[in-house]
This record gives sequence, structure tokens and C-alpha cells, in this order.
Amino acid sequence: MDFDARAHVREATLNAFNFRRATKAFDPSKPIDPADFDVILQAARLSPTSNGLEPFNLLVLDSAAVRQRIVDEAGGGPQWVQAPKLVVITTKRGAGLHADGEHITHMKLDVQGFPADDLPGWQEHFEYFLTKNLELDNDKLRLEWARRQAYIVLGNIMTAAALLSIDSCALEGVNYAVVDGILDQEGLQDKVKDQFAVAVALGYRAAEPKRERTRRPLEEIVRYA
Ligand SMILES: Cc1cc2nc3c(=O)[nH]c(=O)nc-3n(C[C@H](O)[C@H](O)[C@H](O)COP(=O)(O)O)c2cc1C
Repeated sequence: MDFDARAHVREATLNAFNFRRATKAFDPSKPIDPADFDVILQAARLSPTSNGLEPFNLLVLDSAAVRQRIVDEAGGGPQWVQAPKLVVITTKRGAGLHADGEHITHMKLDVQGFPADDLPGWQEHFEYFLTKNLELDNDKLRLEWARRQAYIVLGNIMTAAALLSIDSCALEGVNYAVVDGILDQEGLQDKVKDQFAVAVALGYRAAEPKRERTRRPLEEIVRYA
């Protein structure tokens, strides 16, 4: 990349981060171009995950009825119904996060092309790593580990959107158990295998944000050693 191109990318990158605001009100009449939305989904797909095990899935929730249920029953904010696109990030859970479970076995053999003969040895090693090194010795902690990875996906979705001048808002402010219940009842999630992690609303802002953005200065955030 030559000097001018690099300067341009620097500026475009910072512009995107400055543009992104937690959008409280979306203009329902402005849809997202499907080609843009595809880039956003690819950014999610290409997100890094621990050991490349992709313990997440995306549910593109277009159903107005299900979105309304989440507002009415789980306390979701107005973005849940207004946003032209709404992506729910779910994570694997339970056996889905065990080294010898269906999901991880699928990832190793079918996606990563790992030799089947070496799988038992790898599983033993990985289970040790999760339990002893990361101290993830129960399913609840492992679910939180998967959720941490879902938040990387969330960040990449919001950054990709911002680079395309598309607004977003991370949505965590719901009752998780109620959302899980709704998604299960609506047949949108297998409650044994998957669990709600976080959602993100996408579209175009209806108005400029009311509040000025606040951030600590870099000097307060960063230390050098
Ligand atoms: C993980 C996460 C969850 C959030 N959940 C909500 C939410 O449920 N509803 C909402 O209106 N904003 C939500 N926000 C937006 C934050 O309040 C917002 O990002 C923060 O106040 C900083 O403002 P800015 O994003 O405009 O810079 C969430 C943000 C993050 C990162």
C-alpha cells in the first residue's frame, strides 16, 4: 500500500468508528442493500474464534411478530421492532462445547479437515486446556466463554456496518431466559444446543444522537511499559 492509500485507509477507519453510534431510533423506511448486508454477514463469518471452533450461529430475525414478542415479553427496546435488519447471535451450549460433542467434532472433521484418527488425542488435550488452563470446568462457564466469542462477532458486525455507513446498536437489554423461551417456542432455536448471546440492530438512524459521545482520553486508557 503506498503512502497516499495508507493515509486514506487510516482516515476511513477512524471515520467509521466516529460515525458509529448506538442508534436508538431507526428509519424503518430505509432498507439495507442486500449486497451490503452480505458483507456484514461475511465479516461475522470471518471473525476469529478460539481454536477456530466457531461456537456461534446467526439468526437473521425478519419476523415482525417474533420481534414484537421480544419487546412485549422480554423487555426489548424499540430497535427490536424498528430496525430493518436484526441479527441475533446465539452460542452453542452444553455438549456443544464439549471437546467430543457434535459441534466440535463437526468443526474438527468436516470444516477443518482434521484427521479422524488423531481426533481422540486432540479431544483429550483440548478438554484439558479448557478445564485446567482456562478454568472452564462447568457448562455455565463454558457458555460464557462462547458468549465472549459472540461479542467479537458483534464487534465485527458493527465495524463492518460502520465502514458501509450503516448504523447499528448492540442489544443486550432483554431477559435472556424469556428470549430463549420465545426462540424455542417459535422453532427458531434448538434449546438443547443453542442459547441467546446478544443481538444487533442494523439500519439507518432516524435522527442524530441526542447525547454527545463521551470517551476517556487515550492517555487515561493506555499505559506503556
Ligand atoms: C454489549 C452491548 C450491549 C448494549 N445493549 C444495548 C441495549 O440493549 N440497548 C441500547 O439502546 N443500547 C445498548 N448498547 C449501547 C451502549 O449503551 C452504547 O454503545 C454506549 O452508551 C456508548 O455509546 P456509543 O456506542 O454511541 O458510542 C449496548 C452496547 C454494547 C457494547
